[in-house]
Amino acid sequence: PVQPAVDALIGRMTLEEKAGQLTLNAAAWSGGVATQLNPPSQGGGFDQQIADAVAGRLTGVFNGNGAEMARRMQAAVMKSSRLKIPLLFAADVIHGHRTIFPVPVGEAASFDPDLARRTARVAALEGAAAGIDWTFFPMVDIARDQRWGRTMEGAGEDVLLGQMFAAARVRGFQGDSIAATDSMMACVKHFAAYGAAESGLDYNPVDISDRTLREVYLPPYKAGFDAGAGSAMASFNEINGIPSHGNPWLLKTLLRDQWHFEGFVVGDYTGDEEMIAAGFAKDGRDAARIAFLAGVDMAMQSNLYMLHLPGLVRDGTVSQELLDRSVRRVLAAKHQLGLFDDPFRRIDPRREKARSRTRTSLALSREAGRKSIVLLKNEGDILPLRRDARVAIIGPFASGQHDLNGPWVVYGDNVQAVDLATGVRAVVGNGRVTVAPGSGVEEPLAGGIEAAVAAAQAADVVLLAIGESEGMSGEAQSRTDIVVPAPQMALAEAVAATGKPVVVVLKNGRALALQGAVRDAPAVLVTWFLGSESGHAIADVLFGAYSPSGRLPISFPYESGQEPYHYDHKPTGRPAPAGPREPYKNQWRTVLNAALYPFGHGLTYGKVRYADLRLGTGSLPWAGSLEVAASVTNTGTRACEELVQLYIHDRVASITRPVRELKAFRKVALAPGETQSVRFTLTREQLQFIGSDLQPTVEPGDFDLWIAPSAQAEGVTGRFQLLAA
Ligand code: IFM
Repeated sequence: PVQPAVDALIGRMTLEEKAGQLTLNAAAWSGGVATQLNPPSQGGGFDQQIADAVAGRLTGVFNGNGAEMARRMQAAVMKSSRLKIPLLFAADVIHGHRTIFPVPVGEAASFDPDLARRTARVAALEGAAAGIDWTFFPMVDIARDQRWGRTMEGAGEDVLLGQMFAAARVRGFQGDSIAATDSMMACVKHFAAYGAAESGLDYNPVDISDRTLREVYLPPYKAGFDAGAGSAMASFNEINGIPSHGNPWLLKTLLRDQWHFEGFVVGDYTGDEEMIAAGFAKDGRDAARIAFLAGVDMAMQSNLYMLHLPGLVRDGTVSQELLDRSVRRVLAAKHQLGLFDDPFRRIDPRREKARSRTRTSLALSREAGRKSIVLLKNEGDILPLRRDARVAIIGPFASGQHDLNGPWVVYGDNVQAVDLATGVRAVVGNGRVTVAPGSGVEEPLAGGIEAAVAAAQAADVVLLAIGESEGMSGEAQSRTDIVVPAPQMALAEAVAATGKPVVVVLKNGRALALQGAVRDAPAVLVTWFLGSESGHAIADVLFGAYSPSGRLPISFPYESGQEPYHYDHKPTGRPAPAGPREPYKNQWRTVLNAALYPFGHGLTYGKVRYADLRLGTGSLPWAGSLEVAASVTNTGTRACEELVQLYIHDRVASITRPVRELKAFRKVALAPGETQSVRFTLTREQLQFIGSDLQPTVEPGDFDLWIAPSAQAEGVTGRFQLLAA
């Protein structure tokens, strides 16, 4: 039913109105958050933008200011525009709308895609009530270089995890139908390989082999599209000399012809225009031509399509059919979103208020928060803490309404989030907590260290709340040295010198190279940016109301210079020995080719022993499956949830294979003393790789297998064979 209606409409549109449907700009609502974030390139403010929309020069706006703004714009268009095509409202609803959830990489530490689906659902519920039809999420870029600031926005370094979270997040936002008033259309971004920027420097070119592109970077996008995402966003980067905004192989051959994607492609913020500075387009007209012919259906913020597409069609450079095809995709999305039935279906100021930050959404934020926390070390079982302990909370993130939500939050407010001190006080009471900032984030604080040392001396335990501020990760926040900044390190050393037990509560949007007193503290918790319920979620773990269950979705290297580091690297002919160092081996002068805390690592309050690997017959038939299992026993005194991980290594193949690859994982709850048998079923599809012809291939032969608690742990290990057909 959509097609004829859309075609009839297209038949009535002028070239300018068609170009308008392919033009998206930042909302110009004056005084709104959006204006500060994304100054509109058209100028002229809100009234001018309404006039543009009414004149058919805009398909919609993004990062606006809630239901009232959307209502005013939509009402003007529905009343006064010639064709009454409803506007589309978009926004960067990344990790929550008003209720803020952990940053996406933190949430991936839960290894619980269904949790991501549930948080995305709530984000959609809240955002949709504010009139938002379309989110620019999920960001599914694999991040193997922790210098890159946008690591925080994805699901980490692993392909399997990336695929699972991509699909879950799309499903969460889109629900059962994108027409529903509690659903938003998802946008899989940034297509493609944005996370592979050279040197981890944002916007840098990507120079990558076709095989790595296909095997590592592309699968999460594919998973997002397979889950039904209605749109895709082109990435800022080039791949091997071709900017994504001008790459017909990427946006047409792969995306349309091979993957059969039927939604529309939006450019990233002025990404089409940026092809001029990148030396790929002569001027704005050329950039519009290249981007449009390459397959970018809609231009974001550049206005280049509005300015040049009508002319490009008139002079025959772009065919009418091609233009109509892009317009058809956009109008079809508006139809599917239900906007032609009721342009105001998501715009409801009363619903916006009623759905915002409800008890259930905040409870989910707390649940997601505690499931995202990763306990890196816990020497002497210093955690969980006693509830009658005198606690000194020291560091720039000890208290205060800042740096709680994390980067890329357009609508949430740190003022409404729970800080660490509040969370701890709620457990131990006011009288037992002292707070001392000790240092600024990147600059010292006069007298700060002295006051912090005094607070530590008067306490039983120190919570050292240090790490990165919100502004240190996210877009354009690449770092050369991924360490805790020097003034905070000085604070950590001074606090450690008091001899008081220290629990590091790390705030971070990427993996950090932990050093000195931070690395050596008896306990370290990775707490990312956890959002609305930060302090409560951390306190739940600190005082044992919740046994930590998160695992690292990104490897924490020993030193920054190891980046890009990822657990699934290739072996070499000179692997480093397991024992003492040997010369001329694949290792750095100062550290091994390994992580200080590898992918998959994370402790619980239990003590889990892996034993009794069972590999069935030891042979996986070509057309069959192989059941493998291991026993996990909680030998500790506290209940826990263990993430049991299955890794493989293809011993000999026509293309060298990574030292390990994650193929499956399962979380099991273990009471003290309990043993469970954890089973996995392997099939040959899981052993597939990209062969020399760039096609998926599987080769019979021997495989190592680990069922283990991390990518570097031995767990239980054995070997099986894939039999030939
Ligand atoms: O969605 C974002 C994208 O991730 C980066 N550039 C700006 C877009 C819109 O805000």
